[in-house]
Amino acid sequence: HRDLIAISQLERHEILYLLAEAEQWVDFNRRANKHSDALAGLTIINAFFENSTRTLLSFEIAGKRLGADVVNMHASQSSIKKGETLIDTAVTLNAMRADAIVIRHGSSGAVGLIASKVDCPVLNAGDGQHEHPTQALLDALALRRALRERGATSEDFTGLTVTICGDILHSRVARSNILSLQALGATVRACAPPALMPQGIEAMGVEPFHDFDRALAGADVVMMLRLQNERMDGQFIPSPREYHHLYGLTRERLANHAPEAIVMHPGPMNRGVEIDSDVADDPAVSLITAQVEMGVAIRMACLDVLTRRTRGVAGWKDGE
Ligand code: CP
Repeated sequence: HRDLIAISQLERHEILYLLAEAEQWVDFNRRANKHSDALAGLTIINAFFENSTRTLLSFEIAGKRLGADVVNMHASQSSIKKGETLIDTAVTLNAMRADAIVIRHGSSGAVGLIASKVDCPVLNAGDGQHEHPTQALLDALALRRALRERGATSEDFTGLTVTICGDILHSRVARSNILSLQALGATVRACAPPALMPQGIEAMGVEPFHDFDRALAGADVVMMLRLQNERMDGQFIPSPREYHHLYGLTRERLANHAPEAIVMHPGPMNRGVEIDSDVADDPAVSLITAQVEMGVAIRMACLDVLTRRTRGVAGWKDGE
């Protein structure tokens, strides 16, 4: 566990440990003085080969609040554009003696490949259609806190039904969330047009739906995903208008089929396609802003925990 590449590599107790560690950073981030020296003297490189707003900024803010020196590498301005290979780029970052490298890449498995070439911990900030583990962790933290505000006392999601709706096929967020939610005891449903449902998803213990109204009935949580047009490879999907009609989360649909459900979306949203603004912006049901806030806390926890060995502090396995 030197790296954080995938939720599939984490045990349930390790997920709960990272959530518990993040709780302290939520409180810390709400203070006026948000500076810690926990990671002072360490260099963190954020290497992003795909666009990002939330993940890049929250990793940068997380590293800076912990006192580390944070450097961002944008692929569009790097020597990747001159033909440098991914492995040569990884070796170059390693030679600069980074203490942690955070990577987003469009190819599934690219982050794992880089992790095998460098000496420091690597954190996956999203790799192709594979995983986005810190997203699933921040979603779990936001959801658990929302459930507690509603009176729940459990540390996990036993008995909860979560419907994930959208472009499941291309979604690393869906994959990481399915694994994390199930590890924490939830029942997970997946809803998508036939062309955007991965074949054999039942093998993951997920119940597939093509009818959104049926997928919503009895759900405690609905997690909406955007259509990842940048990853479409000739799949036949409805037009945005048809998609909204069939799979858009509207106020009416929520009221009719899951009136008590909590609404989540990892962002970026396509308003009026997969979710309507009056649902997304309703603080009584929507966790979307809380998800972003929890993203900073989760990334602080992950950077802190994964650099403990470097800092001579007991590692998260050593410390248990
Ligand atoms: N949810 C998420 O990963 O958002 P960004 O692409 O803006 O980082």
